[in-house]
Amino acid sequence: MMTSAEIRDKFLQFFASKGHQIVASSSLVPHADPTLLFTNAGMNQFKDVFLGFDKRPYLRATTAQKCVRAGGKHNDLENVGYTARHHTFFEMLGNFSFGDYFKLDAIRYAWELLVEVYGLPAERLWVTVYAEDDEAYEIWTREIGVPAGRVVRIGDNKGARYASDNFWMMGDTGPCGPCTEIFYDHGEGIPGGPPGSPDEEGDRYIEIWNNVFMQFNRDEAGVMHPLPKPSVDTGMGLERTAAVLQHVHSNYEIDLFVRLIAAAARETSSADLDSPSLRVLADHIRACAFLISDGVIPGNEGRGYVLRRIIRRAIRHGYKLGARAAFFHRMLPDLVVEMGAAYPELARNEARVSEVLRQEEGRFFETIEHGMSILEGELAAMQGGSATVFNGNTAFKLHDTFGFPLDLTADVCRERGVSVDVAAFDAAMAHQKEQARAAGKFRMAAALDYQGPATTFHGYEATEFNGKVLALYRDGSPVEQLREGELGVIVLDETPFYAESGGQVGDRGLLQGGQGIFAVEDTQKIQATVFGHQGVVRTGLISVGEQVSARVDGLARARTVRNHSATHLMHKALREVLGGHVQQKGSLVDAEKTRFDFAHNAPMSADEIRRVETIVNHEILANAAAEARIMPIEEAQRSGAMMLFGEKYGDEVRVLTIGSSKELCGGVHVRRSGDIGLFKIVAETGVAAGVRRVEAVTGDTALALVQQQQAMLADAAAAFKVPLAEVPVKLAQVLDNVRSLERDLARLKAKLASAQGDELLAQAVEVKGSRVVAALMDGADVNALRSTIDKLRDKLQSAAVVLASTNDGKVTLVAGVTADLTGRVKAGELVNMVARQLGGKGGGRADMAQAGGNDVAGVPMALASVRAWVEQRL
Ligand code: ALA
Repeated sequence: MMTSAEIRDKFLQFFASKGHQIVASSSLVPHADPTLLFTNAGMNQFKDVFLGFDKRPYLRATTAQKCVRAGGKHNDLENVGYTARHHTFFEMLGNFSFGDYFKLDAIRYAWELLVEVYGLPAERLWVTVYAEDDEAYEIWTREIGVPAGRVVRIGDNKGARYASDNFWMMGDTGPCGPCTEIFYDHGEGIPGGPPGSPDEEGDRYIEIWNNVFMQFNRDEAGVMHPLPKPSVDTGMGLERTAAVLQHVHSNYEIDLFVRLIAAAARETSSADLDSPSLRVLADHIRACAFLISDGVIPGNEGRGYVLRRIIRRAIRHGYKLGARAAFFHRMLPDLVVEMGAAYPELARNEARVSEVLRQEEGRFFETIEHGMSILEGELAAMQGGSATVFNGNTAFKLHDTFGFPLDLTADVCRERGVSVDVAAFDAAMAHQKEQARAAGKFRMAAALDYQGPATTFHGYEATEFNGKVLALYRDGSPVEQLREGELGVIVLDETPFYAESGGQVGDRGLLQGGQGIFAVEDTQKIQATVFGHQGVVRTGLISVGEQVSARVDGLARARTVRNHSATHLMHKALREVLGGHVQQKGSLVDAEKTRFDFAHNAPMSADEIRRVETIVNHEILANAAAEARIMPIEEAQRSGAMMLFGEKYGDEVRVLTIGSSKELCGGVHVRRSGDIGLFKIVAETGVAAGVRRVEAVTGDTALALVQQQQAMLADAAAAFKVPLAEVPVKLAQVLDNVRSLERDLARLKAKLASAQGDELLAQAVEVKGSRVVAALMDGADVNALRSTIDKLRDKLQSAAVVLASTNDGKVTLVAGVTADLTGRVKAGELVNMVARQLGGKGGGRADMAQAGGNDVAGVPMALASVRAWVEQRL
């Protein structure tokens, strides 16, 4: 039997022997390709080579590529676990020709590998070609000799009952072309029809290899532009091919999955190895582990949210199997054994991946129980009735309050034959967003109906500029004038005010017209290139058409730009100190501080924080000029400028260089790094699994902070009556002292308790051959009560004891019963009986139990009731 590893290896070696360069798999996070959520095919890393933008030293390549098809154009998430062949994560084996060989050789190679190297019986193979591709049809039937009955033409059949179309596109845009697909017939025992037939969706005829003849580049308008040179891109699913070669009908039965399914069963204590949930877990651990290893972190948006959905879906299936605490990450070592050799980065990142998973699991296990009971409740209520659609508002509540992604709820519903009212879910989501918006200070932004020229921004060079009032809004509606005291939004043709974007807040300041002054409290984009100055008319009035002089609040602006430039230097320094995995996850720069969120899995040590501060302050001292240049995005990429994944950039971008940092940025910056002044980190915290947050201050704010801390230290020195420098030593001495006093106190308390214990022994009364003690031990804490009870039980051998202490108006009660009596006298009931008389309650085990109460005065009476209560039961 050929193992998956051998299949992978033979593929690469076969194409190497045909002059192909073996190229390593690229990351699951496509670099610098915002059109793609995850790497979904082997050709992704060669996209620019196909398009003619990039050249490689080879014309032929072959790869085994990690792929994820979840959440993007190619999305298989919902099918996982329920079909024999769908995965979120899978490996694609591929061969590529960049303007070298074309259809004939591609088809010949494919056939030779399948039939001669892998030894597949030719009569089991079926082929599809694009309906109009006569050339491919001829090659298959004439050159290769596949009987015409097994070569199926398939068109662009939009609107047809079944979806196959034999025209492959990476996404909505990018390289594409007609393709020919090779299918394997698993044989008569399996339901399903040949490709192109109405029941082709069955598991009998499985596509194992797709050969795409790359000929076009599809643009955003859907227009196909011919590629410079026709090329070949192929993709063979490793798992499907392994199923064929290992004579099993489901991908989940191949060698690669056996260990993972066993691991899933072990971690969920499941005996039923056929459960679809185990297959879901075996699939999802691969997707999650590889995604995290490649730098994705669970979050609420974009890639992070897809990852979160997969993890939560996995946890739900584990929950269904009985797991009630984090278990999923414990499958990781099994995966590393299985795939760590082929993908060394997985083995390298194991500890980090495990930690990210564990944290995310812990979080979801906090809410899943409650959420599931609501979900189950709603489903139960539907039972009996004729409804088969799950309430969209409940689905939204599950999403919003319990972190149930919509597809998780849908997955549970599907198991009961119920669908979710997605339209109502979307409406509830939109409604909530709308409310959140409305609650904002100004109702503006997108809601404003503005149709005029764009705003020209002069704030990079100036903080004062004259502009003309193009439009005024009050309560969201256009007006001709704004009068004293009125809130509103003003659009100018030209302005020095920066509108919030890229993490930098909008400017504040004044607009002075001929008849009045408008105080700008914030500046926001109301359209991509139109700025809205939000604020209030301070005096007089402002009218459409008049000229105003616009003055930005210089101090706030200066502080903000210092913080912004410092953020760039800090980002660079964090990567230097913590590693290249540090990626910006969010930032907010205002006049007070910079707040920067980034991917990193552990709290920063004091030393790391110091090093980042030192690097940034050195860059500041070097006093380099900041330089902003507009350039084509390709040039920016080549220059190594830092850009954010998932961010949409135009063709022209602004690259900001300051010191050793180079980043795409539209924000306003200092002229020279020295303008930043002192840089100081003030806080480092975690905001989500794998995301840290650093807050820092600069310039006069940093100075004020240092002075304030100095003053606190001076206060401490004065209180200790020592010079400043001796505060730490003095503090250590004082703490030592306190600790030794605490030890003395504990010793004395124990002595006292022991003495009290001896007294209590003497007070024990005999009841039917056993002893009963019920007493107040003044000043004892709960530990002293418990240890005294232990001692009394030892000494008295057959006894029931209740001890009480009072402190600050509260009563603490502990009851203990020796083993011989617990059948009749239960400590839990005993302590509860006493506690109830004191306005409290409690419970515990039969031999030891604890309770509280608050009626201090009632204690003697309550204790007096113990003897009779015990007596009755003996
Ligand atoms: N890129 C082609 C596919 O993914 C080979 O099917």
